[in-house]
Amino acid sequence: MSKFLITSALPYVNGVKHLGNLAGSLLPADIHARFRRQTGHEVLFLCGTDEHGTPVELAAQAAGLPVADYCVRQHAVQADIYRRFGLSFDHFSRTSGEANRRLTQEIFLALDKAGFIEERTIRQAYSPTDRRFLPDRYIVGTCPHCGSSAARGDQCEACTHLLDPEDLIEPRSAISGATDIEFRETRHLFLKLTALEGRLRDWLATRHDWPPLVRSIANKWLQEGLRDRCITRDLDWGVPVPKPGFEDKVFYVWFDAPIGYIAAALESRPDWRDWWQADDVTYLQFLAKDNVPFHAISFPATLLGAGLPFKLVDTIKGFNWLTYEGGKFSTSQRRGIFTDTALNWCPADTWRWWLAANAPENGDTDFTVERFVDGVNKDLADIFGNLVNRCLSFAASRFDSTVPPRGGPGPIERKLESDLDAHLTRLRSHHEALAFRKAAEETRAIWKLANAYLSEAAPWSVIGHDRDRAATIVNTGIGLVRIAAQVAWPFIPFAAEQVLNSLGEPVTWPKSADALPAGRQFRVTPVLFPRVSATMER
Ligand code: MF3
Ligand code: ZN
Repeated sequence: MSKFLITSALPYVNGVKHLGNLAGSLLPADIHARFRRQTGHEVLFLCGTDEHGTPVELAAQAAGLPVADYCVRQHAVQADIYRRFGLSFDHFSRTSGEANRRLTQEIFLALDKAGFIEERTIRQAYSPTDRRFLPDRYIVGTCPHCGSSAARGDQCEACTHLLDPEDLIEPRSAISGATDIEFRETRHLFLKLTALEGRLRDWLATRHDWPPLVRSIANKWLQEGLRDRCITRDLDWGVPVPKPGFEDKVFYVWFDAPIGYIAAALESRPDWRDWWQADDVTYLQFLAKDNVPFHAISFPATLLGAGLPFKLVDTIKGFNWLTYEGGKFSTSQRRGIFTDTALNWCPADTWRWWLAANAPENGDTDFTVERFVDGVNKDLADIFGNLVNRCLSFAASRFDSTVPPRGGPGPIERKLESDLDAHLTRLRSHHEALAFRKAAEETRAIWKLANAYLSEAAPWSVIGHDRDRAATIVNTGIGLVRIAAQVAWPFIPFAAEQVLNSLGEPVTWPKSADALPAGRQFRVTPVLFPRVSATMER
């Protein structure tokens, strides 16, 4: 038994997330956490809402709420949606909490003491009308690269170029629309990534087994050369900077957010050090590719520089994008399917299955309603649902809802057992390699194998002349239903638990040879996956 610390990127608290956010971090992290628990390991699975930064402040303003109240409300909304999706976090934290404030300040002070923090004077956009600085998204204007009129101070969403506020043409305040923008001098703190580059390189050299997507993004950053990063902002909402002269500033959201992973453990369990300051733990992070630089470069550099004994990540699993009907999902333009409406349309398991089976692992995945409907009807209704239903209904009607005894195996049972062992071995190694599509494919192959066995052994044709043989087939068939549900559990936990409960079986990792105890009563589950259609009410 080993220990696995698993984190999913912390979703921004503002607004309900779309299916892309689920597919590219939350769901795969959950599937892996479930697989590790199921195979007998100790797991700590952490997540939470990322509550600082200018988008959150602007969203609170749009909602007409103080930002702290807005965060409380939106945190609860997201936590509820994730619970309904079956995301099995051990704790779902908030980066604006007390634990994260303390830890962030402690890590900063350690960095400062070690000489990795530098004060610099920079020019920042200031609006006399608003009587405040306008960092990041508080300032908007025309993009010098593509001409989009909705570019923001930190980035142009239209062409993805990173920007400095001074690059914007005709800048204006995102709060008031004021155009009287000045650039004023203000003191800020920089994290000296240039001074940490050597240590970071040495550490990265030990992470040679990272997936290619993550390695290539991290290497590109190193090749381009690291730049010192400004880690403070002229804002009220955020973690206060514990340094004289900086009382009216807070840390930049990307400085405190990943520290939230540690805070989530600290605030929820007394043994948090056994996870974050221990050698016997494997730490895995799940995130989308735009998050890679922060997790592979700046957060590790922060921890290396602070010199505190916190664990660095062992493996980062990065994901490409899920696109929607050929275009981007967009929260600001409400384009795509959002996690709340998704659940009103179809059960959580259907989304979980499709998004895992089509995970954007080796390239982007295009979500279309047609592909979704087609995929879940085939895999869940026709293959998995049908297997469970035909086997249990027949067994219930002919053996009085009682598991019949299994006699000696025939040639097809022997073949079945060795095929099944091969599938289970492959499935396990795909899960261990964080290969989600392959794991889903292998899971589907096991369901198909079970269906093929029942069709070939055909207990309904045997029962008329050889009831003992039919009993053996039915016992084997129910055993296959159990295995099908057990391997399904990381992907479709709701349906899998319903099946296992009806059989009185636990959620463990299956063993192909175990016979079900004869004489046990079981229940027939209702239809697990009614067919979905593109025109169903949403
Ligand atoms: N909120 C960020 C995003 O959605 C992710 C933050 S991950 C953390 O892109 F580690 F920094 F918290
Ligand atoms: Zn642009």
